[in-house]
Amino acid sequence: MRRILALALLVLSAVAVETAATTSATLDGLYALVKRRLPDHASSFTFRLTESDGDSFVISDAPATHRGITVECTTVSACARGLYTYLTDFGEVDIWWTGSRLGQLPRELPAVGKPVHGAAIVPYRYHFNTVTFDYTAAFWTFEQWELELDWLALRGVNLPLAWVGYEYILIEVLRDAGLSDADISSFLSGPAFQAWNRFGNIQGSWGGALPMQWVNDQFALQKQILTRMTELGMTPALPAFTGFVPRAMSTLYPNASIVNGSAWSGFPASLTNVSFLEPFDPLFSTLQKSFITKQQQAYGTNVTHIYTLDQYNENNPFSGNISYLSSVSAGTFASLRAADPDAIWMLQGWLFFSSETFWTDERIQAYLGGVPTNDSMIVLDLYSEAQPQWNRTSSYFGKQWVWCELHGYGGNMGLEGNLNAITAGPIAALSSQGSSMKGMGLTMEGQEGNEIVYDVLLDQAWSSAPIDIASYVKSWVARRYTVEPLPSAAQEAWQILSTTVYNNQDPNSQATIKSIYELEPTLTGLVNRTGHHPTLIPYDTNTTVVPALQLLVKAKEQNAALAAIPEFVYDAVDVSRQLLSNRFIDAYTGLVDTYNNANATSDAVVRAGQPLMVILSQLDALLATNENFLLSSWIAQARNWSHGDESYAAYLEYNARNQVTLWGPDGEINDYASKAWAGLISTYYSSRWQTFVDYLASTKRLSRPFDSSAFSSQMILLGQQWDARIWGEGPGEHWGVSSGNVWELVNQILETWA
Ligand SMILES: *[C@@H]1O[C@H](CO)[C@@H](O)[C@H](O)[C@H]1NC(C)=O
Ligand SMILES: *[C@@H]1O[C@H](CO)[C@@H](O)[C@H](O)[C@H]1NC(C)=O
Ligand SMILES: *[C@@H]1O[C@H](CO)[C@@H](O)[C@H](O)[C@H]1NC(C)=O
Ligand SMILES: *[C@@H]1O[C@H](CO)[C@@H](O)[C@H](O)[C@H]1NC(C)=O
Ligand SMILES: *[C@@H]1O[C@H](CO)[C@@H](O)[C@H](O)[C@H]1NC(C)=O
Ligand SMILES: *[C@@H]1O[C@H](CO)[C@@H](O)[C@H](O)[C@H]1NC(C)=O
Ligand SMILES: *[C@@H]1O[C@H](CO)[C@@H](O)[C@H](O)[C@H]1NC(C)=O
Ligand SMILES: *[C@@H]1O[C@H](CO)[C@@H](O)[C@H](O)[C@H]1NC(C)=O
Ligand SMILES: *[C@@H]1O[C@H](CO)[C@@H](O)[C@H](O)[C@H]1NC(C)=O
Ligand SMILES: *[C@@H]1O[C@H](CO)[C@@H](O)[C@H](O)[C@H]1NC(C)=O
Ligand SMILES: *[C@@H]1O[C@H](CO)[C@@H](O)[C@H](O)[C@H]1NC(C)=O
Repeated sequence: MRRILALALLVLSAVAVETAATTSATLDGLYALVKRRLPDHASSFTFRLTESDGDSFVISDAPATHRGITVECTTVSACARGLYTYLTDFGEVDIWWTGSRLGQLPRELPAVGKPVHGAAIVPYRYHFNTVTFDYTAAFWTFEQWELELDWLALRGVNLPLAWVGYEYILIEVLRDAGLSDADISSFLSGPAFQAWNRFGNIQGSWGGALPMQWVNDQFALQKQILTRMTELGMTPALPAFTGFVPRAMSTLYPNASIVNGSAWSGFPASLTNVSFLEPFDPLFSTLQKSFITKQQQAYGTNVTHIYTLDQYNENNPFSGNISYLSSVSAGTFASLRAADPDAIWMLQGWLFFSSETFWTDERIQAYLGGVPTNDSMIVLDLYSEAQPQWNRTSSYFGKQWVWCELHGYGGNMGLEGNLNAITAGPIAALSSQGSSMKGMGLTMEGQEGNEIVYDVLLDQAWSSAPIDIASYVKSWVARRYTVEPLPSAAQEAWQILSTTVYNNQDPNSQATIKSIYELEPTLTGLVNRTGHHPTLIPYDTNTTVVPALQLLVKAKEQNAALAAIPEFVYDAVDVSRQLLSNRFIDAYTGLVDTYNNANATSDAVVRAGQPLMVILSQLDALLATNENFLLSSWIAQARNWSHGDESYAAYLEYNARNQVTLWGPDGEINDYASKAWAGLISTYYSSRWQTFVDYLASTKRLSRPFDSSAFSSQMILLGQQWDARIWGEGPGEHWGVSSGNVWELVNQILETWA
């Protein structure tokens, strides 16, 4: 034991010398990752940096005297990716959102034999969307960040977004500029809504002002996150000053060019139309310098030179004048460079899709053209898998851009993906004529289920030919369900899913499939929606979800050890969830048909409503068995930041609840971030649907028309009451998972709905 340790230390110090000679990067973070995730193999891996261009690695068996595995690489990120390639291809283990099972790597490490080479096909491997910080990570602890960052590092991500704690720096900048704390406070949004304040979509907070405790805690968390990102060979994209300022800025600086932005998503002017300091005003540059200087003082000068900065995400510019647009971007970029001479501006390209009519090619060219050189900007082509914009903008007129997969609108949880688009798509874009594509990444709104599509895209960034989906899925399933032997039924289930549910070719129903039971009940317009809130099911449930679930059950019957694999159980719950969700559409259509029959009695309507309520109750019982599908987890995470202060905990809980329900004080983007969570279904969706059925029945009984506007107002009121609740105080509200038997429930669901 002692001898092995001594050997390992020798190897380590040899590496350290070599490293210092070649580059300033250190591999300590990677060794720490190995200790964290593979404690039994803490000294089995040797990493060595070599000098060469790009990101590449070579994995080989260490010389017999050292044992273990050697990974040589050109960057820390490439070393992490090399380690991952070894772990997945040779060790047949992986790390998942539901937890790491890297610890199951065989004690006797499988030999590599002939050394294995790998190389990234693009310099940037990107992760996150500004809104992921709220839809998924709003209340994350560092432990959750740690799992996420290890997951990212191993997959070779080297450019993550890093928004946490932004407000700490911004507040200092605004105070220095002379604004009072009251002015600043009236501008900032609540803990679950900061992304949209950062985007300039909203200002202010409903449910109470943002507490300084939150700001300080997030700032402390950001320091931990950035240290870890850097250790793992990632360059964080940090925020900059955007131009969005409190209203009072106009009073304080009456001569400054400050305009009101456009209104966003039906919010009242007091909460939107955010004031925007125009970047050609000298004050903009002053505030930018102040922001970046403070940020460098807080986190270090060389943490990054890449800045995320969005001014028109779902807000249109004050003017569409070509020279106006180029002076806005020229001023913005000049301010960045004045504060950091190496600054690169990173832009989320969603606006060019979402406001396509405003953003004509000419305007895009003018806006991007304000930034002088092509390598001083990175545009995230946010929705490349379905609605690419790079191909209508001559590859963003030469600016660097990243092929991104958007997914999980609002963190909605439907099974969805298009494996062909995310394998063949980026390869074709990379080799297209005059391509300035420099990266690949994930810009999901909410990082939720559908882990396969995220894995495929990040793996494609290390493969110059499109990944062969059939063989990829096979090994992916084998390492996701680490049991011996793995019943072939499990593979067959995924063979079906990967070629149907995950082969969604319809560009208008991609990114997510929302379940209609999560929407406010009404008689029309819920089913077959496409676009930004799709509910269209682009496959036949009977020949996809049903047999896939039957096969998963069969696999578990053939090898009971599967029941102890968290990912397997997760998938069985998730596929059952989708089955119930799709059957709800039929039940709902049946109810509407019954109601629309002029002869139907009130009793007939009540009867037609019963299947809907049965599905919701089965769904809640099923989801309650799994910690990944609980409303209570989301609320517990939020309340966990309260430092034991009950009124602060209630404030955090309101934020958490409101985001997944009304999204705004009065349902401004009602149900956009809806979730298939136990607890949310039983205490909220079920009451809405029961009220709906009762109301429909009463209109029949009383021969009254259905008053959709009155009903909708009643639903908003119900939402407001629900948002104000405290979890655990209502009947049957438990914090943890239920004692229900998941397999009994799955079988019952299959018996009823297959
Ligand atoms: C604003 O501009 C006017 C006219 O140029 C000038 O008289 C005034 O002093 C300026 N005010 C501030 C606060 O700079
Ligand atoms: C911006 O909106 C506020 C109130 O909503 C209004 O008082 C102010 O005049 C507006 N500013 C501009 C420049 O239009
Ligand atoms: C808010 O923006 C909308 C356009 O989106 C505009 O019509 C309205 O006048 C603006 N209100 C304020 C107060 O600026
Ligand atoms: C930052 O990096 C540059 C080169 O990228 C180097 O010249 C400089 O010394 C570094 N500064 C610090 C404070 O490490
Ligand atoms: C655009 O703005 C410039 C400078 O303010 C002005 O000279 C020009 O007339 C404007 N063009 C249009 C089409 O409004
Ligand atoms: C860009 O590609 C998408 C998806 O393939 C296609 O629908 C669209 O028509 C293309 N746009 C242009 C301008 O070629
Ligand atoms: C940026 O790239 C485009 C397209 O390749 C090219 O036409 C343009 O000259 C480049 N700009 C600069 C400043 O190099
Ligand atoms: C939804 O689309 C499916 C398939 O095209 C169709 O069979 C069904 O009638 C549609 N339902 C509604 C309510 O429009
Ligand atoms: C799907 O299966 C259900 C239940 O067996 C049946 O009622 C329905 O008609 C089937 N739908 C299609 C499109 O085959
Ligand atoms: C309603 O009932 C009447 C009388 O029984 C019948 O003629 C008619 O077809 C029914 N209408 C519908 C829509 O079922
Ligand atoms: C609460 O925070 C602590 C400290 O960060 C963490 O260990 C724990 O897991 C958190 N609990 C929840 C429910 O988030």
